[in-house]
Amino acid sequence: MKLQSIDWRPEDPAILANPYPIFSRMRDEDPCYWSDRLRSWVITRYDDVKAMCLDKERLSSDRLRPFFQSLPGSEASRISEIIRYLSLWMVFKDPPEHTRLRKLTAKVFSARAMQAMRPQVETIADQLLDALGERDEFDLIADYAGPLPCLVIMAMLGVPVQALAQLKRLSDEIALFIGSSRMSSDKYDTAEQATQEMAAFFKALIGERRAHPKTDAISELVHLLDGEDRFSDDELVASCILMLFAGHETTTNLIANGVYALIHFPDAYQALRNDPTLAQNAVEELLRYDGPSGSQVRVVCRSFALHGKELQAGQRVFMMLNAANRDPRAYPDPDRLDLSRDGAAHLAFGYGSHICLGFPLARLEGMVAIPALLNRFRSLELLKEPPWINSLVFRGMQQCLLRGVR
Ligand code: HEM
Repeated sequence: MKLQSIDWRPEDPAILANPYPIFSRMRDEDPCYWSDRLRSWVITRYDDVKAMCLDKERLSSDRLRPFFQSLPGSEASRISEIIRYLSLWMVFKDPPEHTRLRKLTAKVFSARAMQAMRPQVETIADQLLDALGERDEFDLIADYAGPLPCLVIMAMLGVPVQALAQLKRLSDEIALFIGSSRMSSDKYDTAEQATQEMAAFFKALIGERRAHPKTDAISELVHLLDGEDRFSDDELVASCILMLFAGHETTTNLIANGVYALIHFPDAYQALRNDPTLAQNAVEELLRYDGPSGSQVRVVCRSFALHGKELQAGQRVFMMLNAANRDPRAYPDPDRLDLSRDGAAHLAFGYGSHICLGFPLARLEGMVAIPALLNRFRSLELLKEPPWINSLVFRGMQQCLLRGVR
């Protein structure tokens, strides 16, 4: 019997809510799938995604430059600030530029520096949970998983806490540009204005720290030297925006998707509640099971063949991290949440030279934030099925209304 060809509609709300059945079909029937809708290749098997993360010869991370170059002059001038700063993000660069920016930024992400953040993360989690007061019904995203990582990265960078609402809004607006699978021109305008506002915010803060250094990451970045090398002013602003942006949307979704998964596996919920030493393994398994990164995007720079398909130079490739993390070729019984699972490392932080720079911080936040919430509630139930974010890059919920039993 001939199999019906796969028609993947990533924006379909049912697919957004549960993309895993169609990922399973893609892995089995068409592991190098051409999507007419995205005009891109879509890769879903664990081994393929992992190998492609390491392939710097045939795949490039420099996916914004061709896109920016393809814009007519009038469009490009409408998003000039986005182009100015996003062009300096290491995540969109290949060596040697990537190597240089990563080496400079990595200095503020040492494992020791991240561990030193633990007391602050614990305090932030406790304060947000205290702010729930006696309320048993709440929105996991708005009340907890949303503000927590933003407050943590602000504390790390040395941004005053009063700026929370402003930076959260700006970051969400920039996410419209990064995370959308399709763009509309009003999204461009909103993201452009948000980039302008965020750049102005960080320029002012950088100026202050240059004159009066403190012990935060911005003071360190402003003054750091790698031999003769240092950040330019635009690179400093771009790196602050990148860290604020990369550092919180994803971590919000780690916490929220994690809690959502635990609600669906009550035994795992109770196991983690009763034994906080499970936290480290639990976070890795939650990242594998329904992690925050839908995909990692690359551009083919040298044509090659995969599973009988020809990937041509210039074509875009979506490496589906969550699909790879549920591949039965890599994990036994992959659709089961098993907090004591070990074996192949998940790909939620990517792999290879672009592997997430902030992963020690993200792990720490998950290990603190998820058990802290469980500790306050004997059980949690969903008040209604959540709406999921319409994005290929981010996997997360817009809202998650819960009722807790204390
Ligand atoms: C659970 C939370 C997180 C997840 C799942 C995640 C995931 C990822 C992934 C998949 C990449 C690779 C993107 C690519 O190559 O296309 C990446 C890169 C990056 N992430 Fe994260 N991230 C998380 C949290 C954070 C945090 C907390 C920070 C900083 C405070 C951060 C900073 C970065 C930076 C700077 C890069 C660029 C690295 C490079 O290109 O070399 N991330 N992240």
